[in-house]
Amino acid sequence: MVDAFAALDLPDLLPGWVWLVGAGPGDSGLITALGLKAIIQAEVVLHDALVDEKLLALAPGEKIYAGKRAGVRSCKQDEISDMLVMLAKQGKRVLRLKGGDPFVFGRGGEEAQALARAGVPFRIVPGITAGIGGLAYAGIPVTHRDTNHAVTFITGHGSDGKLTRMDWDAVARGASTLVFYMARKFAGEIAQDLIAAGLAADTPAAIVANAARPDQDVRITTLSGLGAAAADAPALAILVIGENVALASELAWLART
Ligand SMILES: C[S@@+](CC[C@H](N)C(=O)[O-])C[C@H]1O[C@@H](n2cnc3c(N)ncnc32)[C@H](O)[C@@H]1O
Repeated sequence: MVDAFAALDLPDLLPGWVWLVGAGPGDSGLITALGLKAIIQAEVVLHDALVDEKLLALAPGEKIYAGKRAGVRSCKQDEISDMLVMLAKQGKRVLRLKGGDPFVFGRGGEEAQALARAGVPFRIVPGITAGIGGLAYAGIPVTHRDTNHAVTFITGHGSDGKLTRMDWDAVARGASTLVFYMARKFAGEIAQDLIAAGLAADTPAAIVANAARPDQDVRITTLSGLGAAAADAPALAILVIGENVALASELAWLART
C-alpha cells in the first residue's frame, strides 16, 4: 500500500510543538491529510465537542476534552490556552483539534496568540468550515455565478449571549448571501431585522443543521419563514439567506445517496 503521508512529504508534529487543526463540520472524511497525520502523531489531543468520535478513536495519544457541552464542566478559554502552552513546554507533541476551521468563529486566533506570546512553535491546519462545507452537504453552493458574487459570514451570538448587535441596513445592502453561525435561536429576530432593513420577505433561506453528520437536517424556506422553520431545528445549525439557497432543489445530492 502507498504511504500517502510520505508521498505527500508532509511535515511531522514535532515534540514541543502545537498544531491547531480544523476537523471539518462533521463527516470524518473531511479532515485534511495534515490533520490526520497530527491525530496519529500527537501525544496529547485537546479536542472540542464538535469533533467526530471516529477521528478521536484514531488518536493513540491522551485525549483531553476541552469544549463546551451540557452536563460537562466547560473549560475557560484561558485555561485551554494555558494548558496548550504547558504541554508544549513539557516537550509533548500537542494537537488542538477543533470542529470546522480553527480560525472561523473558533477562537483559534486567541489560542495561537497565547502560543506566539509564550514562544511556543505552532502550525495552523485549516479545516472545512461549516458555513461552506456544511452548505455543500445541503447542495447549496456558497457562491454561484448566477446568484451571488459575495458572501458575508456572521456570528449571531454576541459575547453577552444575545443576538450580535449589528448595522442591519449595512448587512442588507452588502453581500447578497448571508451565512450565520450560532444563530438558530435568533432566526426569527434576524429575519425581522433584515426584512425591516429592506430584504424581500420571499428571499430563499435555509437552516442547515447537523451538517455533514448522519442526522443532517436541512429546511428550505424563505426569509419570512425562517423563524418558524428554525424553532424546532437542532441547535447545531447554520442559517443561510440568499438566492443561492434555491439551488438546493436541484443540487441536494446527499438526500439522493
Ligand atoms: C463555535 S462555532 C465553530 C465554527 C467552526 N469553527 C467552523 O469553522 O465551522 C459553532 C457553530 O458552528 C456551526 N456549526 C458547526 N458545525 C456545524 C454542523 N455540522 N452543522 C451545522 N452548523 C455547524 C453552528 O452554527 C455552531 O453553532
